[in-house]
Amino acid sequence: MNFEIYADEIISSEPIRIIFSNKIKSENEYIKVKINVTNLKGKEIYQVEKFTDKQVFHENIEKDDIKRTLIELMSDYKQLSAVSSEYSIDMRISKKGKIFFSKKEQKNKIKEDISHNKQKNYIIKEGMDVAPLIDLGVFTPKGKVINSKYDKYKQINRFVEIVDDEVKKIEKEYQNDESKVLHILDFGCGKSYLTFILYYYFTEIKKINVKITGLDLKKDVINNCNEIAKKYKYDNLHFELGDINGYKYNDNVDIVLTLHACDTATDYALYNAIKWNAKIIFSVPCCQHEINSTINTSKFDILTKYGLIKEKVSSLFTDAVRANMMEAMGYKTQLLEFIDEQHSPKNILIRSVKSNVSKDKRKKAIEQIERLKEEFNFEQTLYSLLAEDVNKLL
Ligand SMILES: C[S@@+](CC[C@H](N)C(=O)[O-])C[C@H]1O[C@@H](n2cnc3c(N)ncnc32)[C@H](O)[C@@H]1O
Repeated sequence: MNFEIYADEIISSEPIRIIFSNKIKSENEYIKVKINVTNLKGKEIYQVEKFTDKQVFHENIEKDDIKRTLIELMSDYKQLSAVSSEYSIDMRISKKGKIFFSKKEQKNKIKEDISHNKQKNYIIKEGMDVAPLIDLGVFTPKGKVINSKYDKYKQINRFVEIVDDEVKKIEKEYQNDESKVLHILDFGCGKSYLTFILYYYFTEIKKINVKITGLDLKKDVINNCNEIAKKYKYDNLHFELGDINGYKYNDNVDIVLTLHACDTATDYALYNAIKWNAKIIFSVPCCQHEINSTINTSKFDILTKYGLIKEKVSSLFTDAVRANMMEAMGYKTQLLEFIDEQHSPKNILIRSVKSNVSKDKRKKAIEQIERLKEEFNFEQTLYSLLAEDVNKLL
């Protein structure tokens, strides 16, 4: 079969990612092959990942060799999908060898065009030299935001904006003293878009020395993030494999972050931050299921009667309890709208700053929780973890 014209068509669309799946021969050990275009020391490189049942094998291919590789892979797989910042391409080869090829303009291209007008206010702008974001699949090698990552890019810029409001208050202290290092922990860092961007923000934009650690339960993402940090000589950015619950850090912690750390993982992160006396905490919770599974009320059963309402109420109760707990533990706490609800329902950010909160206010915060608990009979992890401290306050 002559695959050359298809390979040319794909290459000319400047793909960011190409995926081959649905292998033709059963003896082919690779179920899927993924090709990511990245920028290595200013040079465009195609990173090939070959997936077996259990493992992933990596190899890099030079730009000159990509056409040959695509043609070879087209003979081995029935399905190909490719995306570029403008197009999405699908190719399918039927049993009889018929080729179905479609190239469509990306639906959300308009979104990107709109972004050009808005983005000037972003702290991390398109075109900035944040090379790891190319490896992580957020920027194209030309520094444009990949369409499918646009919402994440927006969320992260909003997060950095909120961090920046607090950093402005302390930046002089760190910028004027080379020996001072801000210790930051990102709990449940996942693919770590935020972590890399914050490292860039602190070191390149703010010129502040930082040591940033990302923690997650997923081995592959931790390994990948450490490789990227090493590749770009982000020397004070490290990723560790581990559970937030029980995590130990052998130094002072200044800032703790969580972005969408699932369910009670957020509670363990907040608990650690409180116990370490962290100066500032930024937390965007998600999947607040705990209260939903324990809530029980007869007086206000209208709120628990409908599954949808029960879920929303439980989620709001969770974050109200967390915010009050932070206040009770001596943190001035605000809840901010993180992102428009139309972009993500996970739109509350808890910002807590260690301050002199009066004993009366702290006590009142606990009493408010107790009253809510009394009526709705739920369990809440942060509250339970801090039971001893709560008793001391009352
Ligand atoms: C929804 S992802 C968010 C990732 C990233 N912060 C972001 O916003 O793109 C949640 C991450 O939290 C991690 N996680 C959940 N519970 C955890 C725990 N107890 N300890 C460490 N990581 C945890 C998961 O592995 C997952 O990568």
